[in-house]
Amino acid sequence: MGAKIIDGKQVAASIRQRLKEEVAELAKKGVTPGLATVLVGEDPASQVYVRMKEKACGEIGIISKGIRPPADIPQEELIAQLEELNRDPAIHGILVQLPLPKHLNTAEVLKHVSPEKDVDGFHPLNLGKLLSAKYWDELPKFVPCTPAGVIKLIDSTGVEIEGKQAVVVGRSIIVGKPVAMLLLARQATVTMCHSRTKDLGAVTREADILVVAAGVPRLIKGEMIKPGAVVIDVGVNRLEEGLVGDVDFDQAKEVAGYLTPVPGGVGPMTITMLLANTVRAAREAAGL
Ligand code: GUN
Repeated sequence: MGAKIIDGKQVAASIRQRLKEEVAELAKKGVTPGLATVLVGEDPASQVYVRMKEKACGEIGIISKGIRPPADIPQEELIAQLEELNRDPAIHGILVQLPLPKHLNTAEVLKHVSPEKDVDGFHPLNLGKLLSAKYWDELPKFVPCTPAGVIKLIDSTGVEIEGKQAVVVGRSIIVGKPVAMLLLARQATVTMCHSRTKDLGAVTREADILVVAAGVPRLIKGEMIKPGAVVIDVGVNRLEEGLVGDVDFDQAKEVAGYLTPVPGGVGPMTITMLLANTVRAAREAAGL
């Protein structure tokens, strides 16, 4: 049996086409969505990600404004720049690329992105609303982009989430925790695993839906997967041989029912959800 490969690029392309049409409609009403991309310092991987985000904005008609403070910017100065963006009516979304340099307190910095412009969904108010939401229709306006993209990919398979056993490997605030909350809001039974979980395979083998965001190359082997499961690999590990996920793709494809590749799975969806959140922020700021 071979898993069906979930084509993230294709799912992303169809959503981006719809967003492009929506941006064109907004333009007729005099609204051009604007995204500020804040990249502190010169981390090469972050530079690549931010460039990809800006390029994707341009392709659908969102204007991006690059803010590039030096790596040693004092926290108060960075916060002052964010406050200025909060006041700028041409900016509808603010993205602060993570990770930030060590001397900056990430939680403190993110508190200063207006919740109305928080297209990454990392403001404590939006994260708190996500935690409060019992059902899908109670979610905050902005939920973190990678988790939102993960749900879209699961939905693209046609597999029902409600009532399923879902296992999330990884407990980060960017992926693991919000993904777990979204799956819960869709009425899955959710188990979270992390680096201290004993006998990881015994837990993951129970999963009808397995989401892996652990940051460990090829952590999940074929025998750790339930036959027929939906497996979403959020891992991006740069090895000498190239980019690999947190799932052993060659083994998993013999066992899983559906599987995302790396690259070409979750990655394109993260950026797509950022675009969707920015378009929504612009539309709602204009009262449309
Ligand atoms: N770093 C890794 N993932 C993300 C993300 O989704 N948003 C931001 N801002 N930084 C990240």
